[in-house]
Amino acid sequence: MSRDRIREQTTRNYNKLLGVEIKGIGSYLPEKVLKNSDLEKMMDTSDEWITSRTGIKARHVASDEQATSDLGAEAALNAINDAGLIPEDIDLIILATATPDHFISASASIIQHKIKAGECACYDIAAGCSGFVYGIVIGAQYVQNGKFDNVLVIGSETLSRFLNWDDRNSAVLFGDGAGAVVLSKSSDPKRGFLNFCITSNPDGGEHLTLPAGGSACFTSAETVNSKKHTVHMNGKEVFKFATTWGTNVAAALVEGSLEGINDGISYFIPHQANERINLSICKRLNLDSNKMLSNIATTGNTSSASIPLVMDQEIKKGTFKKGDSLLAVGFGAGLTAAGFIYRF
Ligand code: ACO
Repeated sequence: MSRDRIREQTTRNYNKLLGVEIKGIGSYLPEKVLKNSDLEKMMDTSDEWITSRTGIKARHVASDEQATSDLGAEAALNAINDAGLIPEDIDLIILATATPDHFISASASIIQHKIKAGECACYDIAAGCSGFVYGIVIGAQYVQNGKFDNVLVIGSETLSRFLNWDDRNSAVLFGDGAGAVVLSKSSDPKRGFLNFCITSNPDGGEHLTLPAGGSACFTSAETVNSKKHTVHMNGKEVFKFATTWGTNVAAALVEGSLEGINDGISYFIPHQANERINLSICKRLNLDSNKMLSNIATTGNTSSASIPLVMDQEIKKGTFKKGDSLLAVGFGAGLTAAGFIYRF
């Protein structure tokens, strides 16, 4: 992998999005909770195996009536309210999702309708579990260059709909949820996105796929019978990718911006895929793992929703103080990786 390419980005991007702040944040988790003990009744697994391999104890699951846009709309309204705005104030809605309501049309437009936003720009982006960070990087640039005042970036997923519940390798890992932020110009030019980086490995995409239902493999009775419309994953390969690229993106962001990892970074929020992946990234970075914030035990892997879900929970707890630097890193299907440093 080209560490130099990432480093080039973080050298170029340093300070470019400072002054664009998170004006409001919100999240939503469906009511229903599926514990490891519930999964023990559904498949050949154990709480001990899941906890020791992943750190996951439980995950939330959408009701039959809830689609990705419903979860996203709840998170969006919470974020807009937190920002002190109304839905009509939003100029652009970017939805990061791997589990849209439909192929046609964009779920961002469905959320626009559900939250009663006015006429505004809307689109979905597909960058796997890195999607929210990609959305932040795209959305913040519209604010920075003055094209839009208030950009809503949402990560929302209903992965439970796309799992093969007979495949214990993947079914135990994922959960449903949504998180959202409103990005706007800050009155404090020192606040905002200190650095950012988005990238994708040209190889390895086959290790994490949903093979059927698209133009390469149209839905048929055969694809349904063979469960090709569900998530297929090579866990070991994804693990290797996540630890390597997650570390490289984080290291490049820090090297491109700050004094040193433990002096410069107040908190670290990695994508919540697996506690072991995240502890391994801390170790490779020589980052004190007490700085890592996590909710994987109660949410599982919510893909693009995972970073804003942790951020929202920690902001509501009052974790971050003025001047703190938050490093966030995503990695996932593509295989993509992305990160930012946000200064409060
Ligand atoms: N319960 C019990 N046993 C299981 C389960 C389960 N749910 N799943 C697998 N096993 C078994 C396997 O069959 C295997 O048994 P065998 O040795 O008899 O064949 C054994 O446990 C060990 O399996 P491994 O694959 O070696 O387990 P490993 O330690 O690699 O952990 C895991 C597997 C947790 C999937 C790990 O590889 C991982 O986390 N990979 C990353 C995957 C990921 O996070 N994907 C999310 C999407 S991508 C993203 O968000 C980055």
